Amino acid sequence: MQIKYLDLQTQYQSLKPEIDNAIQQVINHTAFTLGKAVDEFEKAFASYCQVKCCAGVNSGTNALLLALKALDVGPDDEVITAANTFIATVAAIVHSGAKPVLVDIDPISRNIDPLLLSIAISRKTKVIIPVHLYGRIADMDPIVKIAEKYNISILEDAAQAHGAEYKGKRAGSMGRMAAFSFYPGKNLGAYGEGGAVVTSDSKLDQKVRMLRDHGSAKKYYHDIVGYNARMEGIQGAVLGVKLKYLDKWNQERNRVTKSYNKFLEGLPIRLPEINNDYYQVFHLYVIETDQRDELQNYLKNEGITTLIHYPIPNHLQKALDYLGYKEGDFPVTEKLAKEILSLPIYPELTEEQIKYIADKIRNFFE
Ligand SMILES: Cc1ncc(COP(=O)(O)O)c(C=O)c1O
Repeated sequence: MQIKYLDLQTQYQSLKPEIDNAIQQVINHTAFTLGKAVDEFEKAFASYCQVKCCAGVNSGTNALLLALKALDVGPDDEVITAANTFIATVAAIVHSGAKPVLVDIDPISRNIDPLLLSIAISRKTKVIIPVHLYGRIADMDPIVKIAEKYNISILEDAAQAHGAEYKGKRAGSMGRMAAFSFYPGKNLGAYGEGGAVVTSDSKLDQKVRMLRDHGSAKKYYHDIVGYNARMEGIQGAVLGVKLKYLDKWNQERNRVTKSYNKFLEGLPIRLPEINNDYYQVFHLYVIETDQRDELQNYLKNEGITTLIHYPIPNHLQKALDYLGYKEGDFPVTEKLAKEILSLPIYPELTEEQIKYIADKIRNFFE
């Protein structure tokens, strides 16, 4: 059996008439950037995230950047985020002109460690970006407390957490703003690039809308210098169709997780923690083992593709050399980078496939 890390084809086939029709409508109306399909998706997604406003943009990275710009982040500021995140979170901070300040993660939640976060606050800290990594929301209660104490804004990086919940609250509803990515492989994925900024502050929403459209609210009147970061009509249409299925797909991801946890029980690997404070949406299913590289190779030879999120921590990336971090600065992130392995996960993964993967992992350890 060959098992790909991700299969987007099965899902497309199951929705083909609906998706094809939605795309054709955009073409019929030649509404290629923004337009009706994007408007409708924005309204539906804001409501889904339990916030008032949503602005569709052209990537998750730009969603983060535009949110930081809307919060007036610039060269004199520091923005804190988790050491273990995709480089896009850090890149958006760099592009805003601010200095990224990294904080190590908690080994169980694998999200930013609130205690270390409180130590990293300085007089220059303007924004905290908690990243809801792998589909699990960061421990928001202490993070919100710290932000309130020092009057710092929270921008959630919810790129991996569409529909995740923390104590009944949806991803995107707990910060002053939140950024989502609709990269095709995400829990809610476009048919191309896409992202969104959500907030309940209509002034911030207005500013993001201007920033995404060359700094203008009225055509050819440019009050601020902006970007071209508008969402495409086709992406709005596809996302509008797919949003209706997101809850079902997230439930399926939970089914996959439960089955993996059951089939992998008793092996010398660490499985993702299930914690009742969280509704996790398992964008990724990540195990930990000190024989990671050997296991990954073994599975590859058995026809199973796995990935590592992320093999080289941001603070050891060449691009971020100038920040002056060195090996040993973030021991939890560094240890994880050597031990984590992401197994295939998507809503359509069958019990037979999960059992097959788990059996191969068992064979490896035996
Ligand atoms: C945590 C995180 N932040 C930001 C991004 C950037 O999103 P995009 O690829 O849509 O620019 C991603 C996804 O790639 C991500 O996983």
